[in-house]
Amino acid sequence: MPNKNTLFVGKVLRRFTALPSTNEYLANCLISERPGEGTAIVADHQTAGRGQMGNTWDTEPGQNLTLSVVFYPGFLLARDQFYLNQAVALAVRDALANVTEKPVKIKWPNDILIGKRKICGILIQNSLSGPNIQSSIIGIGINVNQKEFAGQLSRASSLCLETGHEVDLDDLMYSLFSFLESWYLRLRQGRTKEIQSVYLKHLFQKGERCPYTYRDGRSFYGTILGVDPAGKLMIETGGRVELFAIKDVVYVY
Ligand code: BTN
Repeated sequence: MPNKNTLFVGKVLRRFTALPSTNEYLANCLISERPGEGTAIVADHQTAGRGQMGNTWDTEPGQNLTLSVVFYPGFLLARDQFYLNQAVALAVRDALANVTEKPVKIKWPNDILIGKRKICGILIQNSLSGPNIQSSIIGIGINVNQKEFAGQLSRASSLCLETGHEVDLDDLMYSLFSFLESWYLRLRQGRTKEIQSVYLKHLFQKGERCPYTYRDGRSFYGTILGVDPAGKLMIETGGRVELFAIKDVVYVY
């Protein structure tokens, strides 16, 4: 029996057999209504799932979790929005760490890896009102029971492949809702130092000297030191610290 023990996340759940994209569905809802905070949209199958940087997010029907949750973090300044990314990444990390003994890491900015394989992608779409965030669509795709990954997704894996057993989708979803609520409430309470320090603790390759490439293809070795307040990745290389936006650095691993 799934644990449905949350105050608001997932209390209202709209389930669909198929949707183009749960993020897109919520974005359309927000034009004409204001769904209660924590309302979740879940689809067994997305026909036009969206990923980061304009990529698509393609997964097999019925095998995975593809869902979006709406928050209204009016308390959060737009310039601090990366704390929301961190809180969401930590929630997913906790939900996955609950079902595997293997190390679960956050690859900046918010991919979730088991070992070196991507299990989850997160797409957060904020709309702003002046200096603050008005609404935030938290899109989460977790590869759960899918057993084959092709082409572009070859770095991808699933919980099932990593743990050796199938995982109940509803159990995982309600566990995720619970962690999401817990980390979001910490953010609402202003506990940003705690959020950042736990995020850094779980950050993939932090403190390790590893190879990367610049956007222009030049390769370099560097050590991830952390993330700046704007969410840029700080890498020490050649005796100085460089800041990277998402498109500016590629991990070689
Ligand atoms: C990434 O590129 O890593 C982010 C992928 C985010 C996928 C999820 S699945 C549920 C939600 N709806 C979407 O269309 N995308 C997000």
